[in-house]
Amino acid sequence: MDKLTIRDVDVAGKRVFVRVDFNVPLEDGKVTDDSRIRAALPTIRHLLGQGARVILASHLGRPDGKVQDGLRLRPVAERLTQLLGRNVPVTGDALGIGTVDAVKRLRPGEVLLLENLRFHAAEEKNDPKFAEQLAAYADIYVNDAFGTAHRAHASTVGIATLLPSYAGFLMEAEIAQLSNLVESPARPYAAIVGGAKVSGKLKVLDNLVGKVDILVLGGGMANTFLLAQGKAVGKSLAEHDMIDEARRVLASAEAKGVKVILPVDVIVAKEVTRGTEYKTLSAEKIPASWHIVDVGKATLELMEEALADAMTVFWNGPLGVFEIPSFAHGTKEIARFLADRCDAGATVVVGGGDSVAAIQQQGLASRFTHISTGGGASLEFLEGRELPGVAILRDRAAERAPEGAPA
Ligand code: 3PG
Repeated sequence: MDKLTIRDVDVAGKRVFVRVDFNVPLEDGKVTDDSRIRAALPTIRHLLGQGARVILASHLGRPDGKVQDGLRLRPVAERLTQLLGRNVPVTGDALGIGTVDAVKRLRPGEVLLLENLRFHAAEEKNDPKFAEQLAAYADIYVNDAFGTAHRAHASTVGIATLLPSYAGFLMEAEIAQLSNLVESPARPYAAIVGGAKVSGKLKVLDNLVGKVDILVLGGGMANTFLLAQGKAVGKSLAEHDMIDEARRVLASAEAKGVKVILPVDVIVAKEVTRGTEYKTLSAEKIPASWHIVDVGKATLELMEEALADAMTVFWNGPLGVFEIPSFAHGTKEIARFLADRCDAGATVVVGGGDSVAAIQQQGLASRFTHISTGGGASLEFLEGRELPGVAILRDRAAERAPEGAPA
């Protein structure tokens, strides 16, 4: 998958529409995790440095086509202003005469951010008219929003059919790192899949079982697998309608010789809240009125033993209820362990909110091979699906003149 990138185009003086994924967590009007903003900086700096007029566009949250003041992009623009060291104005709306004017007034080396694209229902519908209105702002389209590349929306797909389109540096790096996992992982290759639900990750599990040597399961989704093994999980989060699917995944892993690690001991809590009573129990003996909230020490040892020689690891999803500090131990411990595996020469790629948060909170990020900015997008990529926002970008090969053609 060799796409044309912003290295392949002269952007000096041009208006460049850059789709970024600034869908970041906010609290009290402040960005609490700016990794997605930082990850887009190389592309933005490159374009500004080349004298482009840069129009940034993103969604934030899921406002469903309505203006929601809590989902305005001002806090994002403020953070970007600090990081870039130059003012990033944000328009009052992605469309409208004021925005058209602001775009016209942009000078080479200047940047602005359009207001939340999803305030318009047309964005998620990939409405051609909306795509045309966005395309009218610019001469060139750049997609650096890997985190949104699995969505076929006006700003990720529609607009790319209307303007010459290129991948940004973040998009390029994400595709390169994740392709490496799909195409030629060094072995043993392990996947650690956690998080709440099996249902959202079933396809990726199916696909991974055909590729990995070791599959480690944790988080709420492991409870459904424990049920599939005939164990009780008390009041724990579990998807009873997915038990047969979980059984099928386990059978397929066994048939393919994939080693599956499931919790053998767990932390159980009276309630899934802070300050509640909790203790460690064997996964064989979960009482009816308790909730599984994290993996236990014996499970962590088992996981680390299985992963000790892994040369490639993909990790998505926390092993416990990570947002409650007492139940974040398993996730944090695996993050530390994987950082050590990276230092020992393994390739470790991480995708998905809480697993990434566990790495960042412990200051481990720089030791990992790659931390994907895409949760859902990285999973769909590993499912082997072509992401619409990637597919629409121009292939380098397609741009080459056919052999024998006049120069
Ligand atoms: C994400 O955070 O996964 C992306 O920004 C996509 O957001 P969405 O799931 O609301 O489309």
